[in-house]
Amino acid sequence: MQFDLKLKDPKSKARAGVITTDHGTIETPIFMPVGTVASVKGVHQSELKDEINPDIILGNTYHLYLRPKTDILEQAGGLHKFMNWDRNILTDSGGYQVYSLSGRRKINEEGVKFKSHIDGSTHFFTPENVMEIQRSIGADIIMAFDECTPYPCDYNYAKNSMHMTHRWLKRCINHLEKTPLKYDYNQTLFPIVQGSTYTDLRKQSAEFIASVEAEGNAIGGLSVGEPAEEMYAMTDVVCSILPEDKPRYLMGVGTPINILENIALGVDMFDCVMPTRNARNGMLFTAHGTINIKNKKWENDFSAIDEMGITFVDTLYSKAYLRHLFASKELLGKQIASIHNLGFYLWLVREARKHILEGDFAVWKDKMVKQMSKRL
Ligand code: GUN
Repeated sequence: MQFDLKLKDPKSKARAGVITTDHGTIETPIFMPVGTVASVKGVHQSELKDEINPDIILGNTYHLYLRPKTDILEQAGGLHKFMNWDRNILTDSGGYQVYSLSGRRKINEEGVKFKSHIDGSTHFFTPENVMEIQRSIGADIIMAFDECTPYPCDYNYAKNSMHMTHRWLKRCINHLEKTPLKYDYNQTLFPIVQGSTYTDLRKQSAEFIASVEAEGNAIGGLSVGEPAEEMYAMTDVVCSILPEDKPRYLMGVGTPINILENIALGVDMFDCVMPTRNARNGMLFTAHGTINIKNKKWENDFSAIDEMGITFVDTLYSKAYLRHLFASKELLGKQIASIHNLGFYLWLVREARKHILEGDFAVWKDKMVKQMSKRL
C-alpha cells in the first residue's frame, strides 16, 4: 500500500491524499460505506458503484466469521468475489463488535470469549485467529484486534486496556508474518490507538502505535457517547503524534459535522453506520440540514428529495412520495433514503477534498457546519 500526501490545507490540519492498493486508488479524505455482512444494506452493487461511487467499503470480521463463515468466503475466492466488489475493502477486526455485545462476552489477556448474537454459540477471538480470519476474508486493509473502551471509562481500566491493546498489536503483527496471503493481492494491517478520553493515555498510545511504523493508523474508542468536543480534543492530540506520511482512520465516526471537524484535525478516513441506519429510520442528511421525512410537513411537498443530490433517487422522487413510502412501511423507502444519505456523505468528503486542494477548506467547512446544523 502507498500513501501520497498531495496537499495540506494552510489554515487547518486537513489533508488531501491518495492511497494505492492492489484494488485501486482511494482519494482521501474518504468515507467508507459500511457493508457489515457483505452488503451495504439496501443498496445494489450497481447503485453503490455508479451512483455513490466510493473507492472503498467496509466489512466486519465478527459478522462474516459467524455467517457465511470463512470456509464459504474462501470457496468464493474471498469477500471481493463473493459480493462482486472489485474495489477496495477494509475489514474491522471484531474489537468493536464484541465490545457492543457487553453482557455476552468476557475479555482476558488471551482474547475475548463471546456468544454469537445469531444462535448463542460460544466463540473465542484472539489477536492470532482474528488475523487468520481476516486473511480468509481477504480485505485490502485489515484491522488489529483491540479493545474499544466504553464511555465513561475509569482511568485505570482505560490504562490497562490500552496496554493490552498494545500487547495484542504485537501478537497481531507476529502472527500475520507467519500467516500467508490467501489470494493474489496484498493486505495492509492498521493498528488502533486507544486511551479513552484521557489525554496522557492518548499520547502514550499514539506514540506506541507510531513506533510500530505501520502503513496506516487508526483511532478507536471514540464516538462511544462522549461529547463531540472531547472527541475532537482526542483526535487533535493523536493526529499531532501519528506520522504525517501515513493515512489516519477515525473509526465509527460520525455525523456529517463530526466528519468535517475531524478532517480539519488531520483525519483521512471514516466509516459509520449512521447514513444507512438513520436512513432506515427516515432521517435524511442534506447540505442544508437534516430532514425527518416521516414528518407531516412533507405530506404535500412535491419538490425533489434533494435538488442538489448526486444520486438518481434525489431528483427522481419527491419528498411527499418518500414520506408516503415510509408511512406505508414500503421497503423502497428505506432503499431510497439509504442511497440518498450515502450519496450525500460521499459528496461531502469529495467536496472537502476539492476545497483542500483549492485552498479554501477552512472557510467552506465553517459555512457547511452552520448549514448542516439545521433541522428542516
Ligand atoms: N469501530 C469504532 N470504534 C472502534 C474501535 O475502537 N475499535 C475497533 N476495532 N473498531 C471500532
